[in-house]
Amino acid sequence: MAFVMMMGCYDDGDKMRLDDYLTNRCDDGRISLAEAKVTRQLAEAAIAITRLIRVSGIETDLGAETGGANSDGDDQKALDVMAEEIIIEHLQNTAAAYVLSEEQDAPIALSSDEAADAASSQDQHMMVAIDPLDGSSNIAVNVTVGTIFSIMPCTNGPMPCRGRDQLAAGFFAYGPQTTLILAFARDTAPQCFVLDERDGQFVAMDDLVRIPDHSNEYAINAAYAAHWFSPVKSWMAEVLAGKEGAYSKSFRMRWVGSMVADAWRIFRRGGVFLYPGDHRKGYENGRLRLVYEANPISFLTEKAGGRAVNGSDRILDLLPEDLHQRTALIFGSAAEVDHLIAFHRNE
Ligand code: AHG
Ligand code: MN
Ligand code: MN
Repeated sequence: MAFVMMMGCYDDGDKMRLDDYLTNRCDDGRISLAEAKVTRQLAEAAIAITRLIRVSGIETDLGAETGGANSDGDDQKALDVMAEEIIIEHLQNTAAAYVLSEEQDAPIALSSDEAADAASSQDQHMMVAIDPLDGSSNIAVNVTVGTIFSIMPCTNGPMPCRGRDQLAAGFFAYGPQTTLILAFARDTAPQCFVLDERDGQFVAMDDLVRIPDHSNEYAINAAYAAHWFSPVKSWMAEVLAGKEGAYSKSFRMRWVGSMVADAWRIFRRGGVFLYPGDHRKGYENGRLRLVYEANPISFLTEKAGGRAVNGSDRILDLLPEDLHQRTALIFGSAAEVDHLIAFHRNE
């Protein structure tokens, strides 16, 4: 009893649900019904993936290697494959004509009536790019993983647009809670949601998201320090010099190894994330993929008042030339990213 009183009585009766949020946006003309349905189905897929992790993970090794590899050469884990199947299944019978998946060499055409109808109506014809499971190496060790998505117009076949032309972007993080951050093109800021697993509803969290301009937290895999290009080396030297150095402040470091988890933290309290290019063979443009990872994260970042660049150029201005193209990615608190941009432009 005392414990119940201490915890308070949980009542989400006055909290906005994702369905209401989408309905409001349809009503004010910000999004189409087709966009709302695709988003809703992505949320349903995330709920199914949450259940899979929480329940099936007891009997099935979701982190087991399948023996396969995706087109980037990454070993596929059981959950990579299952999550992708679940998402594609949920996007059947929506206006999504194609799914572009990190796990597939080529676009997947969805042949539902609704997608065919949408194809005849330019403004509703869309495609969805997904990283079905971000943070694969963390599946087996019970560390947060996630699903990243980008909703794009589909005016010229399954060719991804520049990031700035995305219709919407977001990601789900499967951690102690399942959370969603989401923004549509006409939104002024992203909105965060948390899944109430009792009734399978995403409910809105507090206010709209705003990444603080300044932060003293950074995320980078420092094990690659010997391989970094000189702008990142010089920046890190300043960071490590702390208060006495040119940066004049002390930093903390966090690196989860699942970008969704590091990104969620940055959207909640600020910080800067780096996966730069480096001298390792095949890592000249870092590790992360423009279409499935960098574009959606950068879209959300800019909506939240932050910055996202490949070092010197804005990610959202890059023209994807290949479905699986990689890009260096630096995003987060505006002042910290600006500082990094200066290192890249001056060297
Ligand atoms: P994915 O599991 O979709 O391949 O993405 C993993 C990414 C990202 O989540 C993470 O930040 C990064 O790879 C970790 O890479 P390192 O193991 O090189 O640190
Ligand atoms: Mn990923
Ligand atoms: Mn992945």
